[in-house]
Amino acid sequence: KATPRVRQLTSGLIRHLHDFARENELTVDEWMAGVELMNEAGRMSDDRRNEGQLLCDVLGLESLVDEITYKLALSADSEPTATAILGPFWRKDAPQKSMGDTIVTGFEGAGDRTYMHGIVTDFRTGKPVPGAVLDVWHTGPNGLYEQQDPGQDDMNLRGRFTTGEDGKYGFYCLRPVPYPIPFDGPAGKILKALDRHPMRPAHIHFIISAPGYKPIVTQIFDRNSKYIEDDAVFAVKDSLVVDFKPLKGNEKAEFELPYDFRMATF
Ligand code: DHB
Ligand code: FE
Repeated sequence: KATPRVRQLTSGLIRHLHDFARENELTVDEWMAGVELMNEAGRMSDDRRNEGQLLCDVLGLESLVDEITYKLALSADSEPTATAILGPFWRKDAPQKSMGDTIVTGFEGAGDRTYMHGIVTDFRTGKPVPGAVLDVWHTGPNGLYEQQDPGQDDMNLRGRFTTGEDGKYGFYCLRPVPYPIPFDGPAGKILKALDRHPMRPAHIHFIISAPGYKPIVTQIFDRNSKYIEDDAVFAVKDSLVVDFKPLKGNEKAEFELPYDFRMATF
């Protein structure tokens, strides 16, 4: 629809594309190579693969837009939990689970079991947020999300947990590992052209939502992970870097990860 905003964005895009072409004296062949890259991204994309988003991500665009959209959350404890990019692997309708459940099936003997737990609070009042839904997802020890990996059960390593009156949450997952974003398509070509690696540091994704509060799309990052300073898609923020702690006396997990989420009202 031709709203003023759509007109502004469209003419802004045209202006910058034309400037780009003029500045670089873009030739017909070079422009066609760009067209082919976009077409290839389109052909590769389906329910399981979002190459267009991946392409934006290696260009740093999703991280920039995340920063622009959520200016508020930066780092200090007095602020809401910082946001981070959604990435291309979220799926809607992850299984609803009860507190204390695990999101892991399979991978017996692989990966470090982790108990992640904490409380969701209102950052202004410090009070617990009841009815907050934590939508969580991460990769297997093989570095693959369930939809990329025919060896995993549908919706493995995903779950939605709802807080009770005390705002607390807790669930079992795996300690994540660093892994490469898919680099067999246009996003990989961009990385190669710039001599960049495709690796992301170990991370777990979340969308935290609650009635009356702004949803938080974010990720947490393992401090000890390789690539923590050099994420291929530029998503790491200091306040989202966490410490996994060895856990004794719980046969279900070798590590625990205490982490609290702070939400802001609309
Ligand atoms: C991207 C983000 C992810 O979280 C991920 O696991 C893979 C790729 C991305 O931003 O492209
Ligand atoms: Fe991810």
